[in-house]
Amino acid sequence: MRADGSAPLGWAPTPFPFDRLAALRAEGPVHRVHVPGSGDAWLVVTRDAVRAALTDPRLRNDIRHSAGWETDGGQAVGRNMLQSDPPHHTRLRRLVAGHFTPGRIAALRPRVEAVARDLLDRMPRTGPADLVGAYALPLPVTVICDLLGVPAGDRGDFHTWSNELVTPTDATTAAASAAALAGYLTGLIARKARTPDGTLLADLAAPGASGALSSEELLGMAFLLLVAGHETTVNLISATVLSLLTHPDQLALLRADPGLTGAAVEESLRLNSPVQAGAFRFAAEPLELAGTRVAAGDAVLVSLAAASRDPLAFPDPDRFDLTRRPQGHLGFGHGVHRCLGAPLARAEAAVALRLLLERHPRLALDADAESLTWRAGTLLRGLAALPVRLG
Ligand code: HEM
Repeated sequence: MRADGSAPLGWAPTPFPFDRLAALRAEGPVHRVHVPGSGDAWLVVTRDAVRAALTDPRLRNDIRHSAGWETDGGQAVGRNMLQSDPPHHTRLRRLVAGHFTPGRIAALRPRVEAVARDLLDRMPRTGPADLVGAYALPLPVTVICDLLGVPAGDRGDFHTWSNELVTPTDATTAAASAAALAGYLTGLIARKARTPDGTLLADLAAPGASGALSSEELLGMAFLLLVAGHETTVNLISATVLSLLTHPDQLALLRADPGLTGAAVEESLRLNSPVQAGAFRFAAEPLELAGTRVAAGDAVLVSLAAASRDPLAFPDPDRFDLTRRPQGHLGFGHGVHRCLGAPLARAEAAVALRLLLERHPRLALDADAESLTWRAGTLLRGLAALPVRLG
C-alpha cells in the first residue's frame, strides 16, 4: 500500500493496517471482521488473547474443521504442517526439525555470510541501489534453495509462483501459480529420489528414508519450506534497514555497538511484523475466546502485528527502540506452530545487517520514506523496493 492508502496495481491493500489494529485493540481483544478473499472471521488483537488462542487445542489449523470454507490455493500443493494439527503435525514437524536447530544453523552461517558478501560485491560501491532486489531478497532465496536443493536455473520461475501465492493478484492467477508450482515440485522431488544429492529434499524423497511421508505430504513440505523461506526474511531484512535509516539515533547506537545487531533484529520483528497474522484457525467445538463466544466451525485470525504492538506488553509500542528487550513479541508466532525457521531467519537477518553496515558506512535512504510501496496482504507485509544510496 502507498502512503496515500492506494494500492499499487496488482496488490490489494492490507485490510488491517497498524492504525486500524490499534483502534480495534483499544475496543477489545476479539472482533468480528471480513477478510477479503477469505470470509468472515474473529480477529484477535491483544497479546494475551493471541497467546491464548495459539495454545488453545480447540482451535485447529486443518481447514476441514471450518464451517464450509472453500480450500485455498495452498491446498493444491499438498497438505503441510502449518495446515495440520497434532498428532499429524507433530510427525511432520519432527521429520525436518533436525535441519533447523540452532546448531545446524550455526554451521550454515559461513555459507550465509559468503552469499551476503557475494551480493555486496556485485552491488556498486557507491550510488543508488534497490536493497530489496539486490540484497534482501536474493540472500534468503539463495540460502533456502541451496538447503532444499532447487537448481539455480529454476529459481526465477519459482519465485514468481511463490510470490503470487502469498500476495495474490487474483484468485485465477493464484490457482494457476499453485498448479505450476505443484507440477514443478513434483518433478523436482522425483528427480531427487532418482539421483540423491544430499540436500534436504533429496533426504526426504529418498526411497526408504521418506517412509513416513506420503507423496502429498512430501509436496506440502517442499512447498511450505520454500515459500516460507522466500517470502518472509526478505521483509525482515528490508524493514529493519528502513527502520534504522529513518531512526538515525538508533542507527548510531548500532554502528557504535555491533553487539546490538540481534537486538535490532528482535525489535524489528516486533515492530515491523513481516508475518502480520497466523494461518487461519477453526473452532473444532464452541468456545469462549477472551470473553467472546466462538461457534464450532468459525474461523479465527490472530493478528501477530497487533499483539506485538500491544501497549500493555510493550510500552510506547510504535517506537523503534534497540534498547528495549522485546521478549515475548509474537513475530515468530507461539505454541506448536511457532516458526520452525526462526533460527535461520534470525541468522540471515543478523548477517545481512552486519555486513551491509560494515561495507557501507554512509548508507542512506534514497527516497521519501512515506512514498515507499509496501506489499501488504492479510498475512505478510514487506517493502516492494528499498531505494538506498550506497557508500
Ligand atoms: C523473518 C522471517 C520469518 C518470520 C517472521 C516467520 C514467521 C512465522 C510465523 C509467525 C509462523 C507461525 C504461523 C502460525 O502459527 O500460523 C511460522 C511458521 C513456520 N515457519 Fe516461519 N517465519 C520466518 C522465516 C521462516 C523461514 C526462513 C523458514 C524456513 C524454511 C520458516 C519456516 C516455517 C515453517 C515450516 C512454519 C510452520 C511451523 C509449524 O506449522 O509447525 N519460516 N513462521
